[in-house]
Amino acid sequence: MKTAVFSSKPHDFQFLSEANQKLDRPHEFNFLELRLTEKTVRLAEGHQAVCGFVNDEFTAQVLTQLAAFGIKIIALRCAGFNNVDLEAAEQIGLPVVRVPYYSPHAVAEHTLCLMLALNRQVYRAHQRIREGDFSLHGLMGFDMFGKTVGVVGTGAIGQCVVRILNGLGCQVLAYDVHPQPAVVAAGATYVDLETVLFESDIVTLHCPLLPETHHLISAQRIERMKPGVMIINTSRGGLVDARAVIDGLKSRKIGALGLDVYEEEADLFFEDRSNDLLQDDVFARLTTFPNVLVTGHQAFFTKEALQQIAKTTVESLASFEANLPLTFQLKYSNA
Ligand code: NAI
Repeated sequence: MKTAVFSSKPHDFQFLSEANQKLDRPHEFNFLELRLTEKTVRLAEGHQAVCGFVNDEFTAQVLTQLAAFGIKIIALRCAGFNNVDLEAAEQIGLPVVRVPYYSPHAVAEHTLCLMLALNRQVYRAHQRIREGDFSLHGLMGFDMFGKTVGVVGTGAIGQCVVRILNGLGCQVLAYDVHPQPAVVAAGATYVDLETVLFESDIVTLHCPLLPETHHLISAQRIERMKPGVMIINTSRGGLVDARAVIDGLKSRKIGALGLDVYEEEADLFFEDRSNDLLQDDVFARLTTFPNVLVTGHQAFFTKEALQQIAKTTVESLASFEANLPLTFQLKYSNA
């Protein structure tokens, strides 16, 4: 299928091209660097499919325009789909597929990377060493062994996180709207959301961004969390109220914060902005704290994950072209 690939980077070109060549009838990919928005939607004209990523804006208006241009299917090369108006897509009759499962290990391991790096202040320590400062003051961490870690959302990624934490000897409290026996077998104890948030030394988020999970980490909840709590978010930025965590960091209620995602990341992440003046004061403030570690939505970014994302994406497009059932289609009704 003639497919416009928005927000594409060199790695998208590499991995999608490699997977595409393995098909009997390869697709015709047009790699576009621009993010899909109301301003760039016209670039989709002349294609039959659109392939998008986490910050492409599949609003009702954009979807209507895409359908008018003759686009027949949307293929998300990611798991999250909070950037798609699924209700509008369904009304317009545009199927949307995603890659629900590629490498939960990639995201889980990055989550632990943030947790451990914050705890042992690896980044600060390395900066000091480079300046010839070999002192240890301010670098003291804590044993992960025996600490209580709260996992919110125990799907594919949350489950991997539980297994790793169990290996470290942590006590794992978990919350999910759909508890799973495999998570209990992996060593976690399901409790209610409040208990997870208020009884844990570390809280890590692995649920989707939905209206009911928006600002799940709020000022009111931070107030009731353990003093010095570490919060990790590798899920979606909107789960955390950034202004509230800044207040929590300033009052030292929050002891450390690790973010791979940020609510307003669409205008920041995935581009080199080192020559720009940062306009987002909230984000700028976050990066001033010595106990905050931010990565730019890279938790998924491993070779294995990219191979699987590309494979699933080209195969979903091929299934659509061959009129076969779409295994990974999103439905508004059961999203
Ligand atoms: P999943 O669909 O396997 O698991 C999500 C879990 O959240 C499910 O068990 C679900 O029941 C639970 N859940 C739904 N509503 C909830 C609520 N209100 N409270 C608590 N739990 C709730 O998804 P997966 O693959 O584990 O991904 C989790 C999230 O990680 C995704 O939604 C996505 O936003 C994010 N993600 C981030 C990546 C990154 O690179 N930073 C890469 C991939 C995913």
